[in-house]
Amino acid sequence: MIKADRLDTLQPGIFSLINEKKKQALNAGKNIIDLSIGSPDMAPPSHVKEILLQAAQDDKNYGYALTEGLEVFKNAVVNWYEKNYRVKLDPATEVLSLMGSQDGLTHLHWALLNPGDLVLIPDPGYPIYQAGPLLAGGKIYPLPLLEENDYLPDLDNIPVEICEKAKVMILNYPSNPLAATATKEFFEDLVAFAKKHQIIIVHDFAYSELSYDGFKNPSFLEVPGAKEVGVEIHSVSKTFNLAGCRLGFIVGNAEVIDALRLVKSNIDYGTFSPIQIAAASALTGPEECVKENALNYQHRRDVLIEELAKYGWQVPKPKASMFVWAKLPEKFPSSEDFAFKLLAQTGVAVVPGIAFGTHGEGYVRIGLVQDKEKIREAGKRIGEFIS
Ligand SMILES: Cc1ncc(COP(=O)(O)O)c(C=O)c1O
Repeated sequence: MIKADRLDTLQPGIFSLINEKKKQALNAGKNIIDLSIGSPDMAPPSHVKEILLQAAQDDKNYGYALTEGLEVFKNAVVNWYEKNYRVKLDPATEVLSLMGSQDGLTHLHWALLNPGDLVLIPDPGYPIYQAGPLLAGGKIYPLPLLEENDYLPDLDNIPVEICEKAKVMILNYPSNPLAATATKEFFEDLVAFAKKHQIIIVHDFAYSELSYDGFKNPSFLEVPGAKEVGVEIHSVSKTFNLAGCRLGFIVGNAEVIDALRLVKSNIDYGTFSPIQIAAASALTGPEECVKENALNYQHRRDVLIEELAKYGWQVPKPKASMFVWAKLPEKFPSSEDFAFKLLAQTGVAVVPGIAFGTHGEGYVRIGLVQDKEKIREAGKRIGEFIS
């Protein structure tokens, strides 16, 4: 009676369920190794914390920060894009600060969708891609991301009537949960597809700096013409381990950004200034900490994959992200059953693939969010569980 009907469109959060199961396992005496939630466990760079502390001492940083983002932060974003991806951006019209990417991924739909407008979303995909459009009164069409297509959407096989109806497409590479990456060629095809069908592309690039073995993730905006059709969303959460600080940014198409700016200027005042100042220093500061961060995840990935292989579970090595997406051995048909039994019997928490969409069934997402020793121990417990 109290809840709005639109809440019926939301799935109960998988993490509440996992938390419940974790409590039960703990009460039953299990030692928990939590590889479920994608929250970075490593520390932010110390120079960034220093700047944050200094800025927090300055009384003038306690006023409203402005939705737009501080100049210092927006300029840092512009420099970072130019240096990392050779993409030029106008800080006045093509950059907007966000209170985390989650803010952009939700409110963008309020800015773009009329009731019933269709949004193409990845399946499997990060849950906000579904919740965002539905809360804004839109409709969703899941695009199956299949292993045989390297987890890229098969653009040629999206039904024509869907292409004609769709207003927005959301994609995410490196992908959560798939740990899949995109190529520049794919982004070129995507720009051509978007132009042909007049679809706005929203590329969530939250894991841009987490790549391994020398691989560098391409930015969607590197492709000529990308800015005409879409935007890219980022955050400092994963790149600098600042997830709790709630700061992100959206860059690219000025018209899309202008529409989002209008929504946000009515509902928020931006992220606390000291955080923006610290993030600006992170973006313009030394790159070693970012590389070291990625290398830590790479080592953890190797430990997990080697450990699972000892028990006969061969899982491909992802080139990026902070996850391993593992196809379950055949004797486990249900990912939920697998994940909850694994947790109850061994204390290791992973996320069932089905939580990310129907095409996630048969897989689990294992987060590389504990140190190497814990990951090794988790791999051993998982290995014994499947044997
Ligand atoms: C793919 C993806 N996008 C966005 C987010 C949200 O990040 P933020 O902290 O910037 O809101 C996450 C968080 O896990 C994510 O995995």
